[in-house]
Amino acid sequence: MDFMDEGRQKAMDTKYIIWSPDGGYEPSELAEAKRIIDKGGLVAFPTETVYGLGGNGLQKEAARRIYAAKGRPSDNPLILHISQFCQLKEITRRIPDTAVKLAEAFWPGPLTMIFEKADCVPYEITGGLETVAVRMPEHPGALEFLEAAAVPVAAPSANTSGRPSPTRAEHVREDLEGKIDMIIDGGEVGIGFESTIVDLTGEIPVILRPGYITRQMVEEVVGETIMDPALLSVEGDVAPKAPGMKYRHYAPKAQMKVFCGSQTAVVSAINEAAERLVHEGVLPEEIGILAAEETAARYDVGQVVTSGSRKRDDVGRFLYGVLRRFDELHVKVILSESFYDSTREEAVMNRLLKAAGQQLVQVGDGDGVGDGL
Ligand code: TXA
Ligand code: MG
Repeated sequence: MDFMDEGRQKAMDTKYIIWSPDGGYEPSELAEAKRIIDKGGLVAFPTETVYGLGGNGLQKEAARRIYAAKGRPSDNPLILHISQFCQLKEITRRIPDTAVKLAEAFWPGPLTMIFEKADCVPYEITGGLETVAVRMPEHPGALEFLEAAAVPVAAPSANTSGRPSPTRAEHVREDLEGKIDMIIDGGEVGIGFESTIVDLTGEIPVILRPGYITRQMVEEVVGETIMDPALLSVEGDVAPKAPGMKYRHYAPKAQMKVFCGSQTAVVSAINEAAERLVHEGVLPEEIGILAAEETAARYDVGQVVTSGSRKRDDVGRFLYGVLRRFDELHVKVILSESFYDSTREEAVMNRLLKAAGQQLVQVGDGDGVGDGL
């Protein structure tokens, strides 16, 4: 199939199978997943971060299909997923000591590392780069699938490009039904946002994407790290080293604004903004409010959706599901609290601000840090 013709392709039958923590896979279904990967087809599978859209990581054609199914620009490279450390040797030119240490500490787990690529990794996978991203996920259903596939599996998040990453199989269905061969339903994921990416090709490790493994956790293992300067630039004037980070990912359909300041100031500013919108003719049900459980009852106007409790650190886990919920509710505007007090604040705020196209509103005199919002 020529991927340029994708738009004219007839929808295919997407097979739906289940992996469960108690029962695992039905053996014949896992064998079918392997056959699909062998043939260059696509299988969406659960990982501990978000669902991935998997294809044979050593085949150009599989890479083309992944880009076509997601509607993703092909300069945005894919992560190769492996189940055994020894696979790393085949797909990289050099394994630095820092990588061995990080793998010992965090693999399997939500950490992706960037290496110089071996010749067997096609440029279609790496978006033309000489480097390759590799991750060994921790989810037992993912590991069993990767073991069966027996090749490195290229897998971006299993969403249509520009939509929030999927944290449940239903989200994958919404975006990719009829465009891919199989969806493995492993229930709701545990973490809910994508892996931390660390580039190990230079002298000092560089964090390209914040995630569940924090910078501090990485530094405890390998010493000094650098944050990609693009992560710290609010104006978006610095090009990120991970090509995918330049896109307005994780985007809900509505316009979104994130309010930052003391808890009381944020609640009143959001209430005032909602009232102003109603005054301008926006219907109350067209206004979405993203709030933590603790403050949800303090909003007067609009559809409040909560992303769980700040105390349980739920926000990262449910954020993408909540953004999709706002799409279903057809809201036109989303007014969101900010979530600085999470231990994974960098990762969560990075996703939230991307969803909002970096629209951050500073309110009151608080600096928003450490005051409960
Ligand atoms: O948690 C995750 O990492 C999930 C699950 C499925 O494993 N995958 C995921 O893939 O988030 P994706 O394709 O949505 O994001 C991959 C990111 C992009 O920002 C891409 O630019 C970056 O990794 N990346 C991939 N290869 C790279 C490379 N060689 N150099 C720099 N950045 C790279
Ligand atoms: Mg993605």
